[in-house]
Amino acid sequence: MTESFTTAAVVGAGTIGLSWTALFAAHGLTVRVSDPRPDLAEAVDTALAESAPQLAQQGLDVRDMAGRVHLAPDVAEAVRDADIVQENGPENVGFKRELFTTLVHEAPAHALLLSSSSAICATAFTDELEDAARILIGHPFNPPHLVPLVEVVPGERTGADSVARAVDFYRFVGRVPVVERKEIPGFVGNRLQNALSREAIYLVEQGVIGPDELDTVVVNSLGLRWATVGPFLGAHLGGGPGGYRHMAEHIGMSMQAMWDVLGHPEQGPEQRERLIQAVENSYGSRSYGELAQERDRKQLAVLSALDNASRNVEETRS
Ligand SMILES: NC(=O)c1ccc[n+]([C@@H]2O[C@H](COP(=O)([O-])OP(=O)(O)OC[C@H]3O[C@@H](n4cnc5c(N)ncnc54)[C@H](O)[C@@H]3O)[C@@H](O)[C@H]2O)c1
Repeated sequence: MTESFTTAAVVGAGTIGLSWTALFAAHGLTVRVSDPRPDLAEAVDTALAESAPQLAQQGLDVRDMAGRVHLAPDVAEAVRDADIVQENGPENVGFKRELFTTLVHEAPAHALLLSSSSAICATAFTDELEDAARILIGHPFNPPHLVPLVEVVPGERTGADSVARAVDFYRFVGRVPVVERKEIPGFVGNRLQNALSREAIYLVEQGVIGPDELDTVVVNSLGLRWATVGPFLGAHLGGGPGGYRHMAEHIGMSMQAMWDVLGHPEQGPEQRERLIQAVENSYGSRSYGELAQERDRKQLAVLSALDNASRNVEETRS
């Protein structure tokens, strides 16, 4: 039987924690938020106000959402009656080790302890804990209230029941959880993202293309394709009726030769500064809020179009 979740604690309310807060509240959970930032109340209010229409567009009832969110004076108070804790503090192994030591003591025994960590594996910050059975990674993509994927990555000592409960929880809040079988720094999503980023930085560094032009290439090709089929199904279709076998044995061989010439960007302080300036030249004239809103609007449009297309496919099949 699927467990019912009623109370969530969000520890760390920066970019990711604020987005989780809105998503959890929109799914009817009581949310207790803890963060030492002095502007916590204002940050939470702004995040809820901005995300409410986006969550409503996803079919959620957001009318009482803000009333379900409570600010906690400290971590212990935030987690005292939590069914799940979602940690979103700084990406630092020492910080996470200390925080999870506190969480294990302060959260109820049944509470799942999930970390949004982008690259640090659970085993790296739970190695000194007596009991790590209910601690694991639930890594979202920014912003988690819009982008569906959550990478569920157990540590070496995470219990199988905790993995199953994490999957249930993320489905309950409308996400698409994928369980990964082995810990690897950066998990799957960020490794893929960084493989592409490394080459993107190299191409800009070499003067082949500017940052905004490179973004145009990705948005109008790979990005569009990858919203519908992943790299393997894309290649299977790219091989025509001969499928992935044809692709691998023919075009794939010449693509493989390219692996040897892929770039290793320098990225010392000088190169890094040049790259930062190039990106700022491309986008610096527009504010963070304006760019983020445009991204979110387009993201929602893609999600809604995909939803309609999936429904049409289902109807045609049945
Ligand atoms: N930004 C992203 O795109 C992204 C995506 C997925 C996962 N993540 C991961 O999520 C986590 C948070 O990232 P972010 O981008 O939201 O960072 P952020 O810097 O925006 O927020 C971190 C927050 O943690 C708070 N904090 C510091 N000490 C704390 C404490 N003792 N208790 C509670 N809160 C405390 C800070 O005040 C800050 O508000 C990191 O592990 C990061 O790797 C980030």
